[in-house]
Amino acid sequence: MGKDVIVACDFSSEKQTLEFLDKFKGRKPFVKIGMELFYSAGPGIVREIKKRGHRIFLDLKLHDIPNTVKKAMAVLSGLDVDICNLHAAGTVRMMQAALEGLTRADGTRPLLIAVTQLTSTDEESLKEELLVDRPMDEVVMHYALSAKKAGLDGVVCSPLEAGKVHSVCGSGFLTVTPGVRFADGDAGDQKRVTTPAQAKENGSDYIVVGRPITAAEDPVAAYERCVKDFVD
Ligand code: C5P
Repeated sequence: MGKDVIVACDFSSEKQTLEFLDKFKGRKPFVKIGMELFYSAGPGIVREIKKRGHRIFLDLKLHDIPNTVKKAMAVLSGLDVDICNLHAAGTVRMMQAALEGLTRADGTRPLLIAVTQLTSTDEESLKEELLVDRPMDEVVMHYALSAKKAGLDGVVCSPLEAGKVHSVCGSGFLTVTPGVRFADGDAGDQKRVTTPAQAKENGSDYIVVGRPITAAEDPVAAYERCVKDFVD
């Protein structure tokens, strides 16, 4: 898979989502389905978007005991998505169990990536709330290495960390990076952000872009701006 822009379809209904995707006419952007849409519309929305020809990153960020995650991943594997994820904080054992659950009888499986630290978490909350005293990038690299050790395909991280993740885990280890904003845009609740062009420079493999596209007056133009700055 080459570099691409993944559009975070953070909507609360199937109708809203399909109307949004219809705006793209013949284009089939890589779509991210997260908790909001999955919990409201159910697995049917995944099948429908897949049927329309989009690639799908199912962003449900699983984090539970290994056996529960393994069984849940087996269910998600049946939805034929392209990328799934979980929290690296669930431990190497949980990540290995997830891979087992995700792998189909014929040996194929969706890519599996791990969230290192959410891009809404800054070093102050890491220290004050999570009681993690190490610097953010050390924590992110350690979690990335754990994901690699468990056999995962990559991580979700800030575009600011993509270059370092590649140097620590190898260039083939995927970096999927939310926390992307246009230079003239609003950061909202995201803390560790860059522009699409900076994400490209840092070596991100995929950028995940939500509100800068979904809340834009012209979402297709905003998507094209991301593609131009990040891919072309
Ligand atoms: O609207 P915005 O561009 O901030 O959307 C970013 C998307 O990426 C959201 O759907 C969010 O859930 C997701 N995400 C994130 N940080 C992570 C993992 C996923 O922002 N570490």
